[in-house]
Amino acid sequence: MAIITTEWTGKEYFQITELDHIEFYVGNAKQAVHYYRSAFGMQPFAYAGPETGQKDRVSYVLKQKKIFFVITTPLSSHHPATNWLATHGDGVRDIAFKVDCAQTAHDSCVSRGAESIHPSKSWGDSDGIYQKSAIKTYGDTIHSFVERKAYNGLWAPRYVPLKLPTIHSEDPGLLLIDHIVGNVEEGKMNDWRDFYENIFGFTNFVVFDENDISTKFSALKSRVMRSKNWKVKFPINEPASGLKKSQIEEYLDFNEGPGVQHIALLTDNIIKTITALRNNGVDFLYVPETYYDGLSNRVGDIDETLAPLKELGILVDRDDEGYLLQLFSKPVEDRPTLFYEIIQRKGSRGFGQGNFQALFESIEIEQEKRGNL
Ligand code: FE2
Repeated sequence: MAIITTEWTGKEYFQITELDHIEFYVGNAKQAVHYYRSAFGMQPFAYAGPETGQKDRVSYVLKQKKIFFVITTPLSSHHPATNWLATHGDGVRDIAFKVDCAQTAHDSCVSRGAESIHPSKSWGDSDGIYQKSAIKTYGDTIHSFVERKAYNGLWAPRYVPLKLPTIHSEDPGLLLIDHIVGNVEEGKMNDWRDFYENIFGFTNFVVFDENDISTKFSALKSRVMRSKNWKVKFPINEPASGLKKSQIEEYLDFNEGPGVQHIALLTDNIIKTITALRNNGVDFLYVPETYYDGLSNRVGDIDETLAPLKELGILVDRDDEGYLLQLFSKPVEDRPTLFYEIIQRKGSRGFGQGNFQALFESIEIEQEKRGNL
């Protein structure tokens, strides 16, 4: 059985308020931006590139309520992001935190064994001083610490408002980043649990193993880490052995190492959100119709009527605290790596463990088509 504990046993070594943004490295930011606008309804926000004095790369900041995505493409083979992209393909480079002091956060983590990417650096312009530091996490992923307390500009120095032609897209009403999941190598999950416990002072609040989540062919184990204020939740998965290749192994093969597997975006009206995203062309995992047989027996009374859930392929799971509704996209790159989850919480602070079985079966249908099962 999955173990869920809501007790806080962590330590606040330094203050983490919430996530600041996610930065993606992509081969062609101009086109990726079009996709995130048209499919996910992200809004243009800020831009840095050669026109603004940023010679070696372009970065587009997209926004939707409290979700900020930075989409970055290097402009030459000499930029370190070029090697990163050759290895991993498009994906998440940086899960950035908003902090009170970038220097304190960095030095605190490094004092407990974190590997530094860079100590705090300052950038200034007429809007003030912006500071950022960074440490390494799993694979070639990093955590930046962003400090804007002395900065009043739009985003950061060298960024200007992003102006783009209007496109037609339905507003999905996404609110914030609910959780971000990392896939790590077999046998390494507990090392990364320890990393988030020791370096960040997070608490491990959900534990599940292959007995909770498995099909005949593949299985996974997971540990979910959280910050004291619940605003940061990081599940860490590792593959568990099954008869055939697990989806986590497939990810590790195609990503050529650990990395971010999925980003869960929160909504307060999943029926509206999934309707808009499907109309915008987001490709979701197929949910077998049989999933809805006996659903009300499994989850009891819910506020939503069954018909739209079934029509839109939305999954439901219940635990002691309440229930949640969720759905997973197919990977958004040609490599079967990063995908998205859309989630609505109605009391539940879980991750839909009860749905994983149905989900795995659906993912295996896709893996089979790719010849990777
Ligand atoms: Fe998730």
